[in-house]
Amino acid sequence: MIPLSLAQIAEITGAARDPAADPAAMVTGPVVINSHQVRPGSLFAALPGLRADGHDFAVQAMAAGATAVLASRPPGVPALIVPDVPAALAALARAVVDRLPGLTVAAVTGSAGKTTTKDLAAQLIESMGPTVSPRDSYNNEIGHPLTVLRVTRRTRYLVAEMSARGAGHIAALCEISPPQLGAVLCVGHAHAGMFGSIDEVAAAKAELPAALPAGGVAVLNADDPRVLAMAGRTQARVVTFGRLPGADVRAVGVALDEAGRARFTLVTDAGQAPVRLQLHGGHNVTNALAAAALAGQLGMDVAAAADRLSAAVARSRWRMEVTQRNDGVTVVNDAYNANPEALRAALSALVTMARGRRAFAVLGQMSELGAQAEELHEQAGLQAAGAGLAGLIVVGKEAAPMLTGAKANPAWRGELLQVADAPAAVAAVEERVRPGDVVLVKASRAANLQRVALALTGELPL
Ligand SMILES: Nc1ncnc2c1ncn2[C@@H]1O[C@H](COP(=O)(O)OP(=O)(O)O)[C@@H](O)[C@H]1O
Ligand SMILES: [Mg+2]
Repeated sequence: MIPLSLAQIAEITGAARDPAADPAAMVTGPVVINSHQVRPGSLFAALPGLRADGHDFAVQAMAAGATAVLASRPPGVPALIVPDVPAALAALARAVVDRLPGLTVAAVTGSAGKTTTKDLAAQLIESMGPTVSPRDSYNNEIGHPLTVLRVTRRTRYLVAEMSARGAGHIAALCEISPPQLGAVLCVGHAHAGMFGSIDEVAAAKAELPAALPAGGVAVLNADDPRVLAMAGRTQARVVTFGRLPGADVRAVGVALDEAGRARFTLVTDAGQAPVRLQLHGGHNVTNALAAAALAGQLGMDVAAAADRLSAAVARSRWRMEVTQRNDGVTVVNDAYNANPEALRAALSALVTMARGRRAFAVLGQMSELGAQAEELHEQAGLQAAGAGLAGLIVVGKEAAPMLTGAKANPAWRGELLQVADAPAAVAAVEERVRPGDVVLVKASRAANLQRVALALTGELPL
């Protein structure tokens, strides 16, 4: 963060400063919401949580060296008191961005692939100058300002992930750190239940291109008609990416190796160069193209972008994370998140990776799909059966419509199984797998199925 005094922070956020808080005391960062992450000079933001209230950790935060606590009620230690702590974080983040005219902000949104794309884009853009990008999926009204507040006077690029669970969310994130570049990956069913319809999802994602200035660049996926249509919603210059010949940044000759990793030729008007991704799954071609387009607009040439993409690794965990067990079983942990589009992508990667081997899928609930949830789970089951699995293990009652869907494919000869929870899923897999088999584990975060994958790989016992 850039150093600010408590007096400055109080003015920026409209906070009431309690008398114990020295107006000249400096916050040098980081701004944190977890008292364990406090360092000398930190500002500790007290948030009400599901299990604990940040205000209860104010004393601990001060003991660890925090300069003050940002709180919504007096916590009994030097504090800045505001009615709404996330709103104060947003105001503070914006004030920091306004003090850094040399900072370029690139934002990524879409229904699936945001975290992967910002991780890839950061790995490219870092080579051009000091870059800040979110940890994990710090992409909402709390995570985004915390990420922005990590920038310093040295930072040249901020690569932000922006998510929406409703109209206006992305616009608000863009207010916090006005982006010059914005990439939209896809419009799908993630959180569709919270929006009402996929058109409303599209409208929410379009808030990113709509927020870009005339001198900015909208990076749009030409393979997704709903995204391409956002060209009409921006004053910025449009750069497209995709697999079709018309895209400005495109992948030609995409092929997947036996581990489901893509290789292709990255082509732009400025040249072309070969890419070999280390990430698994054909869907990562889309994410890689978006990252290359962003970096290209910041001045990276095609050869450098291709080299960096080929060297890039999965920084955030549980996205198509492949582990080879000693007994020859391959475990694919894609349990960070799921929605119909992401599941389709993962099943397709599983089929490629299995090629001639037996494939199992352990699938749990895709949450937040609203009224269409049952139908979309049925379709997912049908798709899973169509993937020719040796076994489909459906976990939890919310995912049960997948069973109906899978049964609707009479040609499928695999084994269909429903289990109640993660331990039962692990037992079911262990009873069935043989050396050479591939097991995909996928569900929404709420289902916690990463526990299944971690147990199968031996990383964490159940
Ligand atoms: N471009 C894509 N299209 C479809 N599904 C994708 C894409 N990229 C990633 N996924 C799927 O979405 C899951 C979450 O990926 P992630 O990069 O964390 O996206 P997000 O941050 O948007 O939730 C992955 O595990 C993968 O299954
Ligand atoms: Mg994410």
